[in-house]
Formats: sequence, structure tokens, C-alpha cells
Amino acid sequence: MQQKIVTIFGATGYLGRHVVRAFADAGWVVRAVSRSAKKAYFLKVYGDVGQVVAMQAAISDPSGIEVAIKGADAVVYLPGALHASRKGFERVHVDYPASVASYSARAGVGRFVLVSALGCDRSQSVYAQTKRAGEKAVLAAFPKASILRPSIIFGAEDGFFGRFAQMARVAPALPLIGGGKTKFQPVYVGDVAKAVFAAANLPVSGVHNPEGRIYELGGPAIHSFKELLEMMFGYTRQPRPLVPVPFAIATLKAFFLQLLPVPPLTVDQVRSLKTDNIVASGSYGLPDLGIAPVSLEAVLPQALARYHEGGPAAQQKAT
Ligand SMILES: NC(=O)c1ccc[n+]([C@@H]2O[C@H](COP(=O)([O-])OP(=O)(O)OC[C@H]3O[C@@H](n4cnc5c(N)ncnc54)[C@H](OP(=O)(O)O)[C@@H]3O)[C@@H](O)[C@H]2O)c1
Repeated sequence: MQQKIVTIFGATGYLGRHVVRAFADAGWVVRAVSRSAKKAYFLKVYGDVGQVVAMQAAISDPSGIEVAIKGADAVVYLPGALHASRKGFERVHVDYPASVASYSARAGVGRFVLVSALGCDRSQSVYAQTKRAGEKAVLAAFPKASILRPSIIFGAEDGFFGRFAQMARVAPALPLIGGGKTKFQPVYVGDVAKAVFAAANLPVSGVHNPEGRIYELGGPAIHSFKELLEMMFGYTRQPRPLVPVPFAIATLKAFFLQLLPVPPLTVDQVRSLKTDNIVASGSYGLPDLGIAPVSLEAVLPQALARYHEGGPAAQQKAT
């Protein structure tokens, strides 16, 4: 039987690495696309010799997109930005996926999976609005696309617990924007990768047909931002005071912080925190893709052990 081919845009990212592994483990040939092919070389060891191929494409390079997609059975679009100008967000969340989706439709690709973000239909942030516009643009170009909307993604070295644990090593206190009341439903990175794989694989006949469906991906429990930080301190054993910061003050601070080259906080991120990030009742979710979600308690003890006093993260800081 001929090996199936998947083209993964954004393969070098945090989620991308897990998605590459999920397809490679199932025997697919993986085309790992990055804006720089060299950046994707490290992914070659995720499969057998020649199974994972590093490729280069960008929105400004339509022929790169066409070559990466040609002959693929499935295409996965993962790129996303956390901070950008409105134009920057539109490029990576709307224009690029729309273009990849329309090339995929023209090339006769069977399945298309877009990773969007939970709350994109409810939040007033530019991040969310452009994610929602991207979903619509992809569905217009490829109506049978499957769309996945994860809440915050957690796992070893993630961008949430990993980032705040690192911050807590150097900061005397951590801010609780808006009092830390915003609710989240963190989802394990391995479950999101499995969901991407399932959306590209489940049979299109029967009740579980993923084509044209939007899935909201959350873990087994809902927690406030404050509860998540408290839970994190329990596992890093490095508690810091949590200082409530009203939204108005956080917005003012973010206005200046976002001028830094890699801003720790932007006005748009403060806006995001005004809306809860939890799965809507009645939406399709992980169980519809055959996945039982992993809990924070099963993953965080090991993922955050490196931040213990004297652990690898502490030694890194000392050197
Ligand atoms: N992590 C989370 O908690 C979370 C939560 C909800 C939704 N999501 C969504 O899930 C997707 C994957 O997240 P992630 O955490 O894996 O992201 P990530 O680590 O930041 O990686 C995303 C990849 O996108 C590519 N990329 C970034 N900016 C780009 C741009 N302007 N143009 C083209 N490509 C660009 C980069 O690849 P190259 O540099 O190799 O080109 C990067 O490796 C994103 O769409 C994100 O919005 C993530």
C-alpha cells in the first residue's frame, strides 16, 4: 500500500512538532513546512530515514506553497502569531491559510485541517477576530476543512506554564490581570496533536465525519487564571505573591511594553483576557474525535520539575 502524504505548515512550532510525530508514528510521509527549510531539519529524526522532509514556503512564495502541497493527501495549517500589528495578524491568520486552502482545493487534496483558537467567535481581541476571519476564509476556499479551536495548550516547555514558571524565577511577584478571574480549559499538547491526526483520518462516512466541522478543544477541567498560577507554584515549589492588576492599569502598562521587540504583554492580550476561554456547550470536541483528554495533574508534576530549587532551570540561570 502506498504511504500517505501530509503537508504540515508551521511544523517547527510547539504544537507542530507533536503533530509531525503523530503522523510519522502512523507511517505517513511528512512534509514539514517552515519559512526556512533549515529551521525544519531537526524534525527529520521524528521519522525513519527520508520519512520527514523539510520544505520551505511562505505567503510571499506561491510556488513554494504549490510544490509543498502537490500530491498530498492531507494539509494541516498551524502558523499563528501572539503579537503583531493588525496587518501582521491578518497575513498569518487569514491571507496565508486562505491561500494554502485554495491551492489545496485546486490540487485535489483530500483533507484540510486548520488550527484556530478557542473563543475566536466571542473575544474582541484582534488575535481572535483574525482567527475567526481565517476560519471563514478557509471554509470558503475548502468547505470540507476541519477546524480545531484549542484552549491554552499545556505540556513540557509550553508557552503558558513554562513561561510563567520562568518569569517567577526572576520576578518578585506575578500580576493577576483583571484579578485573575478569566477562566481557561487547558488542553494537553499530545491531545491536540491526536485531534489534528484524527481530523485528517476519521472516515468521512458515518456520524464521526469530521469534514466541515468546528471542534472546540478543552481539557477535563476549567480553572481561573489565578488557580492555574497557584497550581503551577505547587509543582515548581517556588511560590510568588500574586498581585491583582485592574484591566485599565494592565492596558496602560501593555501600551508601553508592546513597544519592546518581544513584548511580554500587549494591549490586545489584555483584551483577550476579558473573555473566558472555555468550550461552548453543545460544540463538537475531543470525545467526538475519539480522544479522552489528559489532565493537568497527569502532566505538570514532571513538566515543571525542572523549575524546582536546584533543578535544571535554576542551574541554567546560575551559569
Ligand atoms: N500554544 C497555545 O497555547 C495555543 C492556544 C490556542 C491556539 N493556538 C494556535 O495553535 C497554532 C500552533 O500554536 P503553537 O503554540 O505551536 O505556535 P508556535 O510555536 O508559535 O509556532 C507556530 C509556527 O508558525 C510559524 N509562524 C509564526 N509566525 C508566522 C508568520 N508571521 N508567517 C508564517 N508563519 C509563521 C512559525 O514557523 P516557521 O518560523 O518555521 O515558519 C512557527 O513555528 C497557532 O495557530 C496558535 O494560534 C495555540
